[in-house]
Amino acid sequence: MIRTIPVGLGARAYDVVIGTGLVDRAGEHIAPLLKRKRVAVVSDTNVGEHHGERLANALEHAGVATDVILVPPGEETKSFEGLADLSDRLLALGLERGDMVVAFGGGVVGDLTGFAAAIYKRGIDFIQIPTTLLAQVDSSVGGKTAIDTPRGKNLIGAFHQPRLVLADLDILATLPARELSCGYAEIIKYGLLGDFAFFEWLEANVHAVLERDTAALVRAVGRSVEMKAEIVAEDEKENGRRALLNLGHTFGHAVEAEMGFGDALKHGEAVGLGMAQAFRFSVRQGLCAAQDAVRAEAAIKAAGLPTRLSDIRAEPFVADALVAHCAQDKKAEGGALTFVLVRAIGDAFVAKDVDRAALKAFLVDEGAV
Ligand code: GLY
Repeated sequence: MIRTIPVGLGARAYDVVIGTGLVDRAGEHIAPLLKRKRVAVVSDTNVGEHHGERLANALEHAGVATDVILVPPGEETKSFEGLADLSDRLLALGLERGDMVVAFGGGVVGDLTGFAAAIYKRGIDFIQIPTTLLAQVDSSVGGKTAIDTPRGKNLIGAFHQPRLVLADLDILATLPARELSCGYAEIIKYGLLGDFAFFEWLEANVHAVLERDTAALVRAVGRSVEMKAEIVAEDEKENGRRALLNLGHTFGHAVEAEMGFGDALKHGEAVGLGMAQAFRFSVRQGLCAAQDAVRAEAAIKAAGLPTRLSDIRAEPFVADALVAHCAQDKKAEGGALTFVLVRAIGDAFVAKDVDRAALKAFLVDEGAV
C-alpha cells in the first residue's frame, strides 16, 4: 500500500512516499536522485541497531555505496557540539556537494542532519527517512531544520527542503505506544486546525491508528502530510498560514520548558495539552463554542494524551512563569503575544494580539497559581 504526496515547491518540489516496505526498497527510490552512487546515512544508535543494516543493504543492493554515521540518541545531540561532530564526520568521508545525505531516524536526527546538510559546503542535498510517527507527519516534511541552544529549542537553523521523504509504516511496529500517541497529537492537530471531516474520521478510528492498522495509518499519515504539503507549498517560510501548524505549540512549549524538555513530558504530549488549552482559551475569549472544546479534549484524551495541567503533575504550575515562556516563544512578534486560536474544530487562525492579563487569568483558571 503506497501513497505519494507531492510537495509543490517549483524547482525544489519533492515527493513524500508513504507505505510499507519502503526501507527495503529505498535503493529504488533513492538511486535515481543521485549524481554519484554514494550516500552517507545518519542515524542514531537505537534506530541504527534495529534497522541500519537493512537500509544499508537495500542501498548497496541498488549499487549505492553507503557509509553509516551513528549519533547518540536524544535531544542533547541537537546541539552545536552535535552539529560540529556530525559535520566533521561528513567531511572525513569526503562527501562532495553533489552527494546525498540520508537522515534515518526521528525528529532529532532529521533536524540535525537537515541543518548539517544545509550548511555542509554551503548546502548538500538530503533525504528524510523518518522512523517515528511524529517525524513522519510533521518534522520530516517542510524543510525546517535546526539545533537547540541553552536559550531554547530550534533557535539556530535553516529552511532546507529534502529531495525525498520515505515514510515507512512498517518501522512503526517497534515504536513504543507512548511515541505513537505523541505522533497522533500532530495528526489530530491537522483535523483540529483545518479539516473537520478528518477530525471526525479520527474520532472513529483512533484505536485503529494506535493499533497500527496499515490502512488506518496510510489514511492518517497521508491526510496529515497532504495538509502539511499544501500549507508549506503556499507559505514555505512561515510568513502567514504555516503558523497554523503551531496550534497548541505555544501553550505546550511553555509547559515543556517548565518540565525541562525531558522524558517527563514529551513534545507530542505537550502539544496534546496545548491544543486542549488553545480550545479552552478560545472559548474564554468568546471565539469558540464550549462544546467544541469539550469534543476536542475528548478526542485528544482518547489517544492517551494529557489535556489538563493536572495530568502532567500534581504540583501546580506558576502562571507568571508560563506566561513568560509564551512571551519568549520565537513566534512572539514585537511584545504582543501570538497564539493559534480557534473559531471551531477545523477552523484555526493566528491571533497576534493576545492580552497577557487574559492569558494569566486563563492559566489560573486552569489550575496554575
Ligand atoms: N512543525 C511546524 C512546521 O513545520 O511548520
